[in-house]
Amino acid sequence: MWWENAVVYQIYPRSFQDSDGDGIGDLRGIAQRLDHLVDLGVDAFWLSPIYPSPLADFGYDVSDYTAIDPVFGTMADFDQLVREAHDRGLKLLLDLVPSHTSIEHPWFREHPDRYIWSPVDGPPNNWKSAFGGSAWSPDERSGRWYLHTFYPEQPDLDWRNPEVVTAMQEVVRFWLDRGVDGFRVDAVNLMVKDAELRNDPPATEGFPFPLVGERAELDHVYSANQPEVTHALAALRAAAGEALLVGEVYLPTAEYPRYLEHLDLVFAFELLFSPWKAARLRAAIEPAAALKRVAWVLSNHDFDRLATRVGVENVRAAAELLLTLPGAAFIYQGDEIGLPNGPGHEPPYDRAGRDRLRHPMQWDASPGGGFTTGEPWLKPIDPDERNVEAQRSEPGSLLNHYRRLIAARRELPSAFRILDSAPRTLSYERGDHVVTIRAE
Ligand code: GLC
Repeated sequence: MWWENAVVYQIYPRSFQDSDGDGIGDLRGIAQRLDHLVDLGVDAFWLSPIYPSPLADFGYDVSDYTAIDPVFGTMADFDQLVREAHDRGLKLLLDLVPSHTSIEHPWFREHPDRYIWSPVDGPPNNWKSAFGGSAWSPDERSGRWYLHTFYPEQPDLDWRNPEVVTAMQEVVRFWLDRGVDGFRVDAVNLMVKDAELRNDPPATEGFPFPLVGERAELDHVYSANQPEVTHALAALRAAAGEALLVGEVYLPTAEYPRYLEHLDLVFAFELLFSPWKAARLRAAIEPAAALKRVAWVLSNHDFDRLATRVGVENVRAAAELLLTLPGAAFIYQGDEIGLPNGPGHEPPYDRAGRDRLRHPMQWDASPGGGFTTGEPWLKPIDPDERNVEAQRSEPGSLLNHYRRLIAARRELPSAFRILDSAPRTLSYERGDHVVTIRAE
């Protein structure tokens, strides 16, 4: 399969390249910058959502699954992007958001039974939203209470309703017909909830990844990770055929096998959240590598940027780790030039504080970073400090380090074994090649 050892580059479309001067990245802009991806040597790219959205969650609140948000361009621009990507040998993945829609999606009014409603006049249980507060809100028009695992503007779909299954299968087929090569599937472990809406019990031990507020106080045994999620995923697989499905399963590695029954890959979150300490890295990598089908990832649009999380002194070692582990690897745009977290925006766009991870790409040293000729929606952080143009011409740059690693990984034998190593180092074999990473 093409994706087995693929390097996939995550594009955050609003912040990659603006082509029309409105200060917001767009599809034509992405097409103009495809040679950067070719130059890096990646196999594929994933676009965070490009569908119409009222932007409560910056595209992850979808109001039409089979259209392009006008801010990003037109369907013709999309078709052109697919052609240009394929002409260069690049595959394209879209972001599929199956677990909730925008509250402005017409289904919410026209097909309310596709959503999850409280049987009583108020919240029927103690479930909490991922962004804080109760996961239940009243619908002002009908007076009934609906479930939203994320923002109140993101009502949860009811995957126990066959209509939802069919509708989402149609979405998958729609994009495959337009030539996409697969999907990153959003919030997979939250797709299916307990049919009886039972209370989640109090958490007995801490959840190993970041959780906001009261959600951390509960053990999500009923509001998430239900065995029946495999039926939902089987339906997505039936529609997707051989296309790549990579799942965002926000759970520890031990929970992944259920999801891998129908998904090709799941992101290895234990590594993403591991402190830069050799023993911790090893503990995160070993069980995930044993599953053979994880996608390694060290940052994305939701959590601290790599350079900020591991520290500037460790970004080269982090790149080496990411790109020499066995299997697929995902790079978040900007990590290849060492972009740190930025200041974000005042007032914030994202209520969960993620603006600082989403600043524009820095292509050159000009004040706009070459991202836009207009007023950027979010200012570039430090284009004179780091940018693609300067790093391309500097042999020892981080960008060239990424390029060399991506080229060299093609030659790595597939065998993988972690070695016992000296303190503060992590060593592993890829066949006859030994990789040694220094980490506290
Ligand atoms: C995923 C996305 C995140 C979004 C959430 C709700 O975790 O990565 O950006 O807020 O799902 O759709």
